[in-house]
Amino acid sequence: MNKVLYISSEAYPLIKTGGLADVAGSLPIALQKNAQDVRLLLPAYPEVLRNINKSKIRTVSSYYSQPVNIIETRLPGSKVIVWLVDCPAAFNRPGGPYTDGHGQIWDDNAFRFAIFCHAAVDIALNKLQLDWQPDVVHCNDWQTGLVPALLHLQPQRPATIFTIHNMAYQGIFDQQTFFDLHLPVELWHMDGLEFHNQLSFIKGGLAYADKITTVSPHYATEILSPEFGYGLDGLLRSRIKNLSGIINGIDDKHWNPGTDEHLKQKYNRRSLDKKLLNKTDLQQELTLAVDASIPMIGMVSRLVEQKGLDIILLALSSLLTHPIQLVILGTGETHYELQLAEWAQNYPDHLKIIIGYNESLAHRIEAASDMYLMPSTFEPCGLNQLYSLRYGNLPIVTHVGGLADTVTDANQENIANGTANGFVLEEQSAAALLASIEQALVLYQQPKIWRQLQINAMSGDFSWQTSAERYIELYQQALE
Ligand code: ADP
Ligand code: GLC
Repeated sequence: MNKVLYISSEAYPLIKTGGLADVAGSLPIALQKNAQDVRLLLPAYPEVLRNINKSKIRTVSSYYSQPVNIIETRLPGSKVIVWLVDCPAAFNRPGGPYTDGHGQIWDDNAFRFAIFCHAAVDIALNKLQLDWQPDVVHCNDWQTGLVPALLHLQPQRPATIFTIHNMAYQGIFDQQTFFDLHLPVELWHMDGLEFHNQLSFIKGGLAYADKITTVSPHYATEILSPEFGYGLDGLLRSRIKNLSGIINGIDDKHWNPGTDEHLKQKYNRRSLDKKLLNKTDLQQELTLAVDASIPMIGMVSRLVEQKGLDIILLALSSLLTHPIQLVILGTGETHYELQLAEWAQNYPDHLKIIIGYNESLAHRIEAASDMYLMPSTFEPCGLNQLYSLRYGNLPIVTHVGGLADTVTDANQENIANGTANGFVLEEQSAAALLASIEQALVLYQQPKIWRQLQINAMSGDFSWQTSAERYIELYQQALE
């Protein structure tokens, strides 16, 4: 049994902005089921403190003259112990984990996540009297990047794993920040935390972790190229022997159409007809024409460039001439929100845009839709296409990252050999997007084929078991 400290800046259901939370809220449970002694470390944001019931304060320390407590609780619905880094100066404020209520990035994020990392390092070295020292420290994304770097300087330390969920977010700050954070000067060089004379948090993970992983095999090869590596592809190529891709699983308890409490009508692959009740229910709720035969295309997403919004916007004028209902739930960049809202105003029968974050509606859109839109420019793994497959809602995706690893195009050959489970664009363009949607609409009119595609999609194994085993193998290798 390994003792694993799993460090993340968000974890469902305590706090979530995207897929990282889904992973950090479910992988530790899968690891625990596989005999790992896991503790999850999170910042104590107000929303987290509101979401926990039992808590006890375990210890007190201070970083940058700011007092820090460690609060202990459990991940709701599980036995996984959660330690919360409670530092009011860093985390007790309204807004989200990374931005204020207006979506503006907090200007002291370096300081906030440096405190988080220092607490993680002290726990890793058993300096906080928690009577528990990990064998493995598993870090996620830039917010945890200083941990492998700081631990690297210790003669006796746990093994370190760094998982990249998204290379586009690197935690870059100016050089002065490096000095203000009093980071050890020996970390300031081009093979360390320095990135073109700036401080890079993610480089702490990429340069110093014993093992680097990312969340799909395809993305693990893409990030070795300049197009997807954002200036860090060279560093990653130099670490290729220690880099691997492990696909994310999904939490079968929360994302299962057979048991999903958010749904009007539960269903499974043997009772697919019942799925339609979820569509008519949503049509009613969104004041769309109530007709189960109209193809519904869903999307639940951060509204950012990554998710392919530019080609979606370009495709809309043609797309909305088809007899479809397109339902998009999301929040993100204001210009996307405004443009989508304007299109929806002009095409009220064909397009509904719901701006906001709504977990229940996200589940209901997955269950109601026939097709799911995810034409990302890059996608490290992507969870929404996995949820869609699980809900018999066929994803329309680009051939990138985890989308390429999980969706197989419904061309004639793949339909014949029983592997087709969605639609893959020929390239990331509005024309290719329209072509794929039109291909989907044609097949939608052939109920026998469509039903088979849905069954193929729903039969895929996207559970955490296999991936959890791969992480445990990797922990073993790192310890050796
Ligand atoms: P990313 O992490 O890049 O945003 P993923 O597909 O990995 O993309 O995960 C996104 C997660 O966030 C999914 O669980 C999705 O349902 C959820 N999500 C995104 N936007 C919203 C929203 N507006 N309301 C509810 N859930 C959302
Ligand atoms: C990131 C990626 C997404 C991935 C998620 C969880 O947010 O954008 O592709 O699924 O992390 O690993």
